[in-house]
Amino acid sequence: MAEATVKRPGRWTRFMAWLDARLPVTETVEYHATKYYAPKNFNFWYYFGVLAMVVLVIQLLSGIWLTMSYVPSGAGAFASVEYIMRDVEFGWLIRYMHSTGASAFFLVVYLHMFRALAYGSYRAPRELLWLIGMAIYLALMAEGFFGYVLTWGNMSFWAAQVIVSLAGAIPIVGPDLMEWVRGDYGMSEITLNRFFALHVVAVPLALVGLVFLHIVALHHVGSNNPDGIDIKQQKDADGVPVDGIPFHPYYTVHDLQATVVFLFLFCVVLFYAPEMYGYFIEKPNFEEANPLKTPEHIAPVWYYTPFYAMLRATTFPLFGLSAKFWGLVVMAGAILIPAILPWLDRSPVRSIRYKGAWSKLMLGLLVASFVALGYLGTIPPSPGATVAAQLLTIVYFAYFLLMPWYSRIERVKPEPERVTR
Ligand code: HEM
Repeated sequence: MAEATVKRPGRWTRFMAWLDARLPVTETVEYHATKYYAPKNFNFWYYFGVLAMVVLVIQLLSGIWLTMSYVPSGAGAFASVEYIMRDVEFGWLIRYMHSTGASAFFLVVYLHMFRALAYGSYRAPRELLWLIGMAIYLALMAEGFFGYVLTWGNMSFWAAQVIVSLAGAIPIVGPDLMEWVRGDYGMSEITLNRFFALHVVAVPLALVGLVFLHIVALHHVGSNNPDGIDIKQQKDADGVPVDGIPFHPYYTVHDLQATVVFLFLFCVVLFYAPEMYGYFIEKPNFEEANPLKTPEHIAPVWYYTPFYAMLRATTFPLFGLSAKFWGLVVMAGAILIPAILPWLDRSPVRSIRYKGAWSKLMLGLLVASFVALGYLGTIPPSPGATVAAQLLTIVYFAYFLLMPWYSRIERVKPEPERVTR
């Protein structure tokens, strides 16, 4: 009688079995990709999460290469950046990748956050995902600020001087706090050294850790979608959401083409307008930091200017506290207030598609006020610009503070049972 031959598993299968017994590789790939069912109606606005990841990688890689030639000292910092630009092989490319990457990061993250506002992605059960996102945003702001100071140009120096001196406006502890942040009586090499440590080690570590948690939290609750409805409500006999498609291969391919288009646009800026006419790298930053020469007009980079405009718009002292202190309160409030959105939105529906006229109007006004404030923050102050910034600050806060009211009283459209488009 012929012996039954049992086919021995191939090398790859055996290797994976060995690996899986020691590290949950297949399980992880299935959980996060091949068996992660994402809603099938993701649109343009769903590209920006993955693009934020692409920019994060660009920043980490170009940052590591810049650190190889950068000198974090008062005498060496500015000169080392010039050395990178002129003498290091492809140093100019690495430096422009990093400076353009910083602006790209904020652009992509602002669009990513707008999507969450429009489709109500911050609402239950995604509150923690949203809060982790807010922590990422704060870390990103800190990272951008510390990095900006490292070039030790004259605008870096004075912008840092303005921002750090804000801490001095806090009653009682202010002056000591300011000295503690700087590590010196004024902005100096000591400040530069600690900002360097924070920029290249502490904050990137925190960012990477937070992005990891962001994805874990997202995959635990599942993605929202442009209709704002829960795809887990409608499952087939195998327990798979009928409106879901496996992340891999469908969305890996979908995101890959977006990445290619994004990298193309990124290169256009990188090669043809890396300074973006003074919006990405300002003119005074081509001069070395000079404590005796204040630039004519101090302004931060574009991604902070909406908040800077609000700071400057707060011109009146109150309750015996300086206007500068209240400016700090308004600015910090404006940055932090989106964190409480999950608890401000009382609408019975998530997505702007089904919300009423009030929500649409307020979201439109929020975007318009943010962009206009961003512009006002870049121009020198004038009485007219200050009044405009004050009105726009009220509009910005109104979106958040009036939300419990307008999201409850407006007429909404019924949500569909299944995702639409
Ligand atoms: C380094 C920065 C960030 C990275 C790499 C990142 C990455 C991602 C990715 C890959 C997704 C899934 C794909 C998508 O929905 O686009 C996502 C979803 C999400 N992110 Fe982020 N994110 C970042 C920053 C933020 C920030 C600053 C916020 C808000 C403050 C935020 C809030 C959200 C929300 C609410 C979702 C779920 C959206 C939905 O399912 O509709 N993220 N993020």
